[in-house]
Amino acid sequence: MYNINLISGDGIGREVMDAGEYLLDKIDLEFSFTYGHAGYHCFKKTGTTLPEETVKKAKKSDAILFGAITSTPGQPSPIINLRQKLDMYANLRPIKSYEGVNCLYDDIDILIVRENTEGLYSQVEYEEDDKVIAERRITKEASEKISKIAFEQCQKLNKNKVTCVHKSNVLKKTDGVFKDAFYKIGEQYPQIEKNDYYVDAAAMYLVTNPQRYDVIVSTNLFGDILSDEGAGLVGGLGLAPSGNIGDKYGLFEPVHGSAPDITGKNIANPASMILSIAMMLNYLDEEEYAKKINDATEAVLKEGKIVTPDLGGQATTMEMTKEITRKILEG
Ligand code: NAI
Ligand code: MG
Repeated sequence: MYNINLISGDGIGREVMDAGEYLLDKIDLEFSFTYGHAGYHCFKKTGTTLPEETVKKAKKSDAILFGAITSTPGQPSPIINLRQKLDMYANLRPIKSYEGVNCLYDDIDILIVRENTEGLYSQVEYEEDDKVIAERRITKEASEKISKIAFEQCQKLNKNKVTCVHKSNVLKKTDGVFKDAFYKIGEQYPQIEKNDYYVDAAAMYLVTNPQRYDVIVSTNLFGDILSDEGAGLVGGLGLAPSGNIGDKYGLFEPVHGSAPDITGKNIANPASMILSIAMMLNYLDEEEYAKKINDATEAVLKEGKIVTPDLGGQATTMEMTKEITRKILEG
């Protein structure tokens, strides 16, 4: 029995969470659920985007599933705060092409490993005279930790190469530390190929020649941007799952946000949530079950009949979810 903390958030975060909970209820693994509030609706009710109660419940669970939130003007981001408070320092974002999905390349299989607790997302901004300053904090410790995760994941996934993405030609001190940490940790993995690109070139290669990448490791903001770019290459944000992992906690969430443009229409693609659930089950050492979920999702995408409008279909969020669930139970 696994205790899963569900934080659905706002907009389609709630819709894809309903889909996720439906699937977890139906499959033959035992879960108990706790529910946490966060985000814009939560702020309107409680005056905070991330109540202490939510953090407490999250810490008591075996894993956390997160929907998406709508940003609240003038307030800190609850998901960034949660990543920092639970020290989930690694954000794993697989970018994969699926058969049946209209994408720019049909042979992409990249893992983006994004540092998740510092960089330009330190959320430290202040005014000084006539300047507004944002801190970009990079530590040797966090850079080494994230590099280690990237090499470990490379090994685990039987991949060959890790690419460090940075901008150390301009951000000499901060990204200098990041790049040095990457090569230092890399010495412990002699069998893995290593290289590094400046982020601007890296972004171009991702479009022109994504096959050159196996695992990418980068700082917080660059990793965020490259992973949405990667999602765009393979069918959009509806297919992009992620895991936030630290030494103690794991939180799994679709890469996408609350999508106000499609909220309430019941057409949000549930696959990013369902693939995030598969990542969660891998984290809980239920590898076999994770594979079942991935296989069922792939099969539904390949058939292309019962898929949401972002993939060219006409199915609702729940219709697609039920089809994937049916295939899991069949398989
Ligand atoms: P978004 O990811 O919500 O949407 C971008 C585009 O992708 C929209 O056209 C949307 O309809 C589409 N899309 C996203 N998920 C989809 C899905 N599952 N199925 C089909 N189409 C999908 O990003 P946007 O519009 O920039 O931000 C909206 C709100 O979400 C903002 O308040 C933003 O701050 C917040 N946000 C929250 C995140 C989180 O909770 N982790 C991450 C990114 C944004
Ligand atoms: Mg993002």
